[in-house]
Amino acid sequence: MAKTKENSGTKKAVQELIDALNGDLAREYQAIIAYTVYSSVLTGAQWMNIAAELKKHAHEELQHALIIADQIDYLGGSPTATPKPVKLSKKAEEMLRFDLDNETETIKNYRQRVKQAEAIGHYALADQLRTIIAQEQEHQHDLATALGIDVPHVFEGGA
Ligand SMILES: [Fe+2]
Ligand SMILES: [Fe+2]
Repeated sequence: MAKTKENSGTKKAVQELIDALNGDLAREYQAIIAYTVYSSVLTGAQWMNIAAELKKHAHEELQHALIIADQIDYLGGSPTATPKPVKLSKKAEEMLRFDLDNETETIKNYRQRVKQAEAIGHYALADQLRTIIAQEQEHQHDLATALGIDVPHVFEGGA
């Protein structure tokens, strides 16, 4: 009896992890699209460096999407084919701000996902997520630097 209960608890945790990873995958697709479009439309000498960075981000987001999709499949789920909506703007600062907000949201989500992966003993996934988080933090840093602002930290406890 106790064992059945435990199994159904794990099953529920795995399903929740699959669903949450599909949200992450939709966010990775969103990032691929946003970085592809924004890096092409950013004009003006002061944005040239960041436009080149955004193209690199697009490649890295695709790598993340491939990892997350494989993990969803491994866990027995079906990877989504739908991105989260991409906001558009004609203003460079606004585009970069959208990207920065998305990166911050992404980092918050992946931190939660590390905990969920460890809770079911899926340490390989937790390790992959940690590597992805480090790259998302670099993206955040690139964007904040281009905008001339501090990196918004998302550590637990507020600050
Ligand atoms: Fe990503
Ligand atoms: Fe990113």
